[in-house]
Amino acid sequence: MSHNTFGHLFRVTTWGESHGPALGCVVDGCPPGLTFTLAEIQAFLDKRKPGQSRFVTQRREEDLVRVLSGVMPSEDGQTLTTTGTPVSMMIENTDQRSKDYGEIARRYRPGHADYTYDVKYGIRDYRGGGRSSARETAARVAAGALARKVVPGLTVRAALVQIGKHKIDRARWDWAEIDNNPFFCPDPETVPVWEDYLDTIRKAGSSVGAVVEVVAEGVPAGLGAPIYAKLDQDIAALLMSINAVKGVEIGNGFGAAEITGEENADEMRMGNDGQPIFLSNHAGGILGGISTGQPVIARFAIKPTSSILTERRSIDADGNNVDVRTKGRHDPCVGIRAVPIGEAMVACAIADHYLRDRGQTGRLSAGHALQD
Ligand SMILES: Cc1cc2nc3c(=O)[nH]c(=O)nc-3n(C[C@H](O)[C@H](O)[C@H](O)COP(=O)(O)O)c2cc1C
Repeated sequence: MSHNTFGHLFRVTTWGESHGPALGCVVDGCPPGLTFTLAEIQAFLDKRKPGQSRFVTQRREEDLVRVLSGVMPSEDGQTLTTTGTPVSMMIENTDQRSKDYGEIARRYRPGHADYTYDVKYGIRDYRGGGRSSARETAARVAAGALARKVVPGLTVRAALVQIGKHKIDRARWDWAEIDNNPFFCPDPETVPVWEDYLDTIRKAGSSVGAVVEVVAEGVPAGLGAPIYAKLDQDIAALLMSINAVKGVEIGNGFGAAEITGEENADEMRMGNDGQPIFLSNHAGGILGGISTGQPVIARFAIKPTSSILTERRSIDADGNNVDVRTKGRHDPCVGIRAVPIGEAMVACAIADHYLRDRGQTGRLSAGHALQD
């Protein structure tokens, strides 16, 4: 009943709160012999860390990751090799400001977890949201960096595709652009539109929602199972576990409800190499809960940050009607920093299913050849 662990064979437990001394994760079940460097893990944490532009929270955290266990260092002083024992990773919190939260110690921010937390536990670390703070997601990003190493040839990338009502033009999608702007936006022409819009939102002390798209390539065919271990089911669960996520789609997602069977069918032809060729990918790379070998595509919708400067009606822990205005440092659009988190959760889901597939089938590579 701990509810702080996910995954079956690639099993991740996270720990820590927003205003505690540190947070981290323990990855149990990581296969022995994976090699990585601290810099590789850090690169993903750097994408998520706060304070990198005026469009995200100004909390200053370096988010430097330390690996405490489960690895053997090499002579080059850089490379770490997993030993098959639990890999524990830790990130210190260095820029807590508890006084910002004094006013909401007993007042419930509408749209945040304050009320439900009190109802459930009767005790709440109100400083920065405690365990319900997205500080915890730094640990998931560290676990995700390791997960990427589990599946040979796997690439998981994500991009922000919508802020408020402003969507990218998908015809201009260019992966090379996502590191050239503060939004992980793949469409350079949308960047100035988002900048102007978010500046207005930010200066008004308001917030806005967003949509993130995750694309995993190099996912072998055959991962997942037809019912209670559907790959799409587990990806959706992990994406939905991210703070502020209110909707998840796989492939066409809700768009599938608007089209006909002819339009939705991913037609197939036999390729010269003995492998099938899919003529489209409406399914998002998963059919019957099992990966097809095409890119796995998932999108998730993030709600607007609930901590805003405009007064909202609420109640306090003593049962009084109050008005709440949230000061402190907040992301005006949490969808931006959710991009690397979404990548991490999809990487963890795929790594877990990859190991489960090997465990069940006994094969080292997923998927039968058609002639078998
Ligand atoms: C990267 C990231 C940063 C976030 N930062 C804030 C924040 O600064 N202020 C805030 O009120 N909520 C923030 N949130 C959202 C809250 O953590 C979330 O809304 C809250 O835990 C309630 O959970 P729910 O929205 O899933 O119901 C953030 C979420 C993410 C993914």
